[in-house]
Amino acid sequence: MSLLSASLLGIEFANPLLNASGVHCRYHDELDALFQSAAGSLVTKSCTLAPRTGNPEPRYAATPLGSINSMGLPNEGYPYYLDYAQRHDHAAKPLFMSVAGLTLDDNMQMLAAIREAARPVIVELNLSCPNVPGKPQIAYDFEAMDRMLEAASRVYAQPFGVKMPPYFDIAHFDEAAAVLNRYPLVAFVTCINSIGNALVIDIEHESVVIRPKDGFGGIGGDYVLPTALANVNAFHRRCPAKEIIGCGGVKSGAEVFMHLLAGASLVQVGTALQEEGPGIFARLNAELAELLARKGYANPQAARGKLRTL
Ligand code: SIN
Repeated sequence: MSLLSASLLGIEFANPLLNASGVHCRYHDELDALFQSAAGSLVTKSCTLAPRTGNPEPRYAATPLGSINSMGLPNEGYPYYLDYAQRHDHAAKPLFMSVAGLTLDDNMQMLAAIREAARPVIVELNLSCPNVPGKPQIAYDFEAMDRMLEAASRVYAQPFGVKMPPYFDIAHFDEAAAVLNRYPLVAFVTCINSIGNALVIDIEHESVVIRPKDGFGGIGGDYVLPTALANVNAFHRRCPAKEIIGCGGVKSGAEVFMHLLAGASLVQVGTALQEEGPGIFARLNAELAELLARKGYANPQAARGKLRTL
């Protein structure tokens, strides 16, 4: 095992880093750039049954503390990503496919097609997109989430993961974890998607900074790091049979290490990847390697969940 190697679902990864779904992964050439980068794996843009152009632009804005977006699931439709999965060299770099159907039936149709394709793609079922007008985040409705996971477990019938929104109350951590723990095929939990429906204001123009939803959108970057770490740790503690992928606020090796300590097996990069490009993965790996060596950890897994309480 090399200094940075990681594992999830029994699969070996050269390192724990990958993109957050939505960043640099809509088109094949963007996915190819991630494949060529120093990321240990990659995930596709959340797909729907049919292609979508998404919400009106501008729909992403960088801010001094991170970003806000209301993309609205622009994607090329699931066959485009399935085609990529069919041509991808999975042995060289594992590939996750993010699925975000607009209805339960849409998700089941996509999961059945992915199962039929029989490629070693790892499904991340997105239960947390905050940006489609009229479609609330499924994981904020525990009965809807339960129905979705029951159907996905039955139709897909093999291990998969879920992309969760942030929760902010202990009772909600407990309730969400209880639903997830009912489904053994939910093998990993990605925490967190953006903190939804925030508002960034530009005082010079006395204006919102993105067009959709009157400026409301999901925030990422520095704003979300402590919330992301809390969610990673909360689900790591409550779902001992599942693995956790951390996502939120990663811009250096230090935040990757924090996610590992909180309980993550792999760590996704969103806003910082959007701003810096795929070259960021080489930098993050170098910073993480230096930190792990200084702290005396043999690999990322050795640091997993090692967070101390006082
Ligand atoms: C979007 O396309 O609006 C972002 C997707 C997500 O946050 O799940």
